[in-house]
Amino acid sequence: MQRPSRFLATLLFAAFGFSATVSAQPVATPATPAAAVAAPAPAGGIQSANIFEVKPDASAEPKYAEQTNGERAKVQPGNNAPMWRQVGSGVTGYSSLPKSEAPEAGNLIQPFVQYPGSRLTNAGEAWRQVRNNWLIPYGGALLLIVVGAIALFYLGKGRINLHGAETGRKIERFTPFERSAHWANAIAFCILAISGIVMAFGKFFLLPVMGLTLFGWLTYLLKNMHNFAGPLFAVSLVIIFFTFVRDNLPSRGDLGWLLKGGGLLSGKEVPSHRFNAGEKLVFWGGVFFLGVIVVASGLVLDKLVPGLIYVRDTMQIAHMVHAVATVLMMAMFIGHIYIGTIGMQGAYDGMKTGYVDETWAREHHEYWYDDVKAGKIPAQRSEPAPPSQAVQA
Ligand code: HEM
Repeated sequence: MQRPSRFLATLLFAAFGFSATVSAQPVATPATPAAAVAAPAPAGGIQSANIFEVKPDASAEPKYAEQTNGERAKVQPGNNAPMWRQVGSGVTGYSSLPKSEAPEAGNLIQPFVQYPGSRLTNAGEAWRQVRNNWLIPYGGALLLIVVGAIALFYLGKGRINLHGAETGRKIERFTPFERSAHWANAIAFCILAISGIVMAFGKFFLLPVMGLTLFGWLTYLLKNMHNFAGPLFAVSLVIIFFTFVRDNLPSRGDLGWLLKGGGLLSGKEVPSHRFNAGEKLVFWGGVFFLGVIVVASGLVLDKLVPGLIYVRDTMQIAHMVHAVATVLMMAMFIGHIYIGTIGMQGAYDGMKTGYVDETWAREHHEYWYDDVKAGKIPAQRSEPAPPSQAVQA
């Protein structure tokens, strides 16, 4: 039976354009062209008088594919193609590493696989091609498109400013705990995003400027930072999820908000509760759905999932899943970071100080503001409450 990971590999490779069947059985490689060219003439010589219809005596043909290394060495000293054929077909050799820790240590490379319509190839090479021909160019293009679209929007529409004057009366939007969780997560995310981008795309834009040595050290450093920031991101993401899940549940007005695009183009903000439908989409799509996939695949790549057998195809699948999910996540959070910084007046202050002006609350989250004014939600949730900052209901 196929291993689940091998089955998944089949699906993934198929999704990326190969209608694939990953062979569970090793497939014999053809004799190398060099071996075929250099093969000695058959013992019986050419049988036909017509040189255009050469029919060599098959029985006299040495069976290259069945030769041992020793037999091959006799006819072609130095040619160890039989050994490499065995290596390619997945024959396990000897390794002093314990099998429990390194189950594939006796296999120099992965077995060859045959995709219909494509040449016989090594599974590692197939993964490399998916990475270099699909994930890197399309992932990079998506990120550039998102950055470009946001830049165009900013140049065309500018920052979303407050329409009314600030009152000076503040409402507590985020408690110190919420802000700590958010910033721990955001810092880890930035480390992961920057190091991930340099590891994936750095050779195109940094290597030519920095040179091999410096780029090598930089990626080495960033790779280690990535590995350590990952678990911090995972833990803070879980905290973020439980901290904000309640106010991200669907509520009245979400659909209308989405249908009107939040009033982003019309400039007339659509009322919402504490978080609007756009934020809820980022929460459920980015924090929850992509978060689970990114963290799970990242923990596999960090070898932190107990009981899992870490073989090459497992790591390749984890890598491909991780790459797709992280690019989508970055694309989502580039938008979040834009709105949370230069895109909207007053939003960053809310996450920095914990407080927003009443005018900001009314203009951007009207239902939430109404609930605060009606006393349904306390204007000050954390202790101690600075009297000057309490909202006048
Ligand atoms: C430098 C990076 C980031 C900046 C500048 C930033 C900024 C902000 C700001 C200003 C808010 C308040 C929005 C409001 O008042 O409605 C916010 C809320 C939030 N942020 Fe971030 N953020 C960053 C990264 C992240 C990351 C990486 C995540 C999660 C993976 C995240 C998850 C959230 C969540 C869950 C909220 C609460 C609102 C909601 O549920 O949508 N943020 N952020």
